[in-house]
Amino acid sequence: MGLGRVYDQVQLAEDFRRLGIHPGSEVLLHSSLSSIGHVEGGADVLIDALLAVVDSTQGTVLVPTLTGSAQDSPENPPLFDVTRTPCWTGRIAETLRLRPEADRSLNPTHSVAAIGANAVSLTTGHEDCWTTCGYGSPYYRLARRGGKILLLGVTLDSNTTFHTAEEIAGVSYHLQAKPVECKMIDYKGRTLFRKTMLHDWGTPRRFMAAADIFLEQGIMKKGSVGEAECFLIDSGAMLDYTVERLRKEPNWLVKR
Ligand SMILES: CC(C)(COP(=O)(O)OP(=O)(O)OC[C@H]1O[C@@H](n2cnc3c(N)ncnc32)[C@H](O)[C@@H]1OP(=O)(O)O)[C@@H](O)C(=O)NCCC(=O)NCCS
Repeated sequence: MGLGRVYDQVQLAEDFRRLGIHPGSEVLLHSSLSSIGHVEGGADVLIDALLAVVDSTQGTVLVPTLTGSAQDSPENPPLFDVTRTPCWTGRIAETLRLRPEADRSLNPTHSVAAIGANAVSLTTGHEDCWTTCGYGSPYYRLARRGGKILLLGVTLDSNTTFHTAEEIAGVSYHLQAKPVECKMIDYKGRTLFRKTMLHDWGTPRRFMAAADIFLEQGIMKKGSVGEAECFLIDSGAMLDYTVERLRKEPNWLVKR
């Protein structure tokens, strides 16, 4: 944790603005709280700062609330309970998804929680997506609406939207061979079953291979929040570039 400086909501909000986030922005946040330095008030204050900058009456903050594991398979289907299943994507994501005003999408492995003006329209219908990050998912919707991805103290390795590109491009290594019948419990306590194509965790990736290209092309820009190195990505441009590249070169993101 940092060099002893303490960051409050006002300073964090200034850093978000300097990165280019503004009222009306729709931002998917992948984060490491400890990378910022000491945040007075912790994850809640960081979330409040970002909500204030996007102005939650106009903009929206989203976090990945991922729950999948390498053990998920037709023989071992995941169970997802929208209110009870914790995520493994960090303290900020877990804190946001537990807020009463958060809307969390229904998905067996790649749910997203959102707060703000378009939280419902971004998260709705995820349970009916054939692939967890592909067409119709919050990741895809955000990209098509001009949304941003903010990597806060983490790298492109944490950028789930690469999987959106892999699913749209139809690369051969990414999904399990058969759909899995997954059980989900919604906010009203109702049980849903959906057949979904889940990820196959067997292929190591090298998402960092895209870093210089994204920076050079203006798809991604670098900045900081507190002591954390940050990257702000134009989600639609990133998705378009990556899908096109994967169609030509399907193994571009596979670690050799
Ligand atoms: C794994 C990961 C979450 C770990 O990051 P981290 O900073 O160590 O952990 P969190 O973000 O959960 O924050 C909790 C930590 O922040 C620190 N912390 C606690 N209070 C704090 C405060 N007020 N201010 C700053 N840091 C604080 C502590 O070290 C705490 O760890 P502890 O609970 O073990 O004490 C992060 O590296 C990561 O990968 N994030 C992206 C996840 C993602 O989106 N993945 C998508 C995959 S496709």
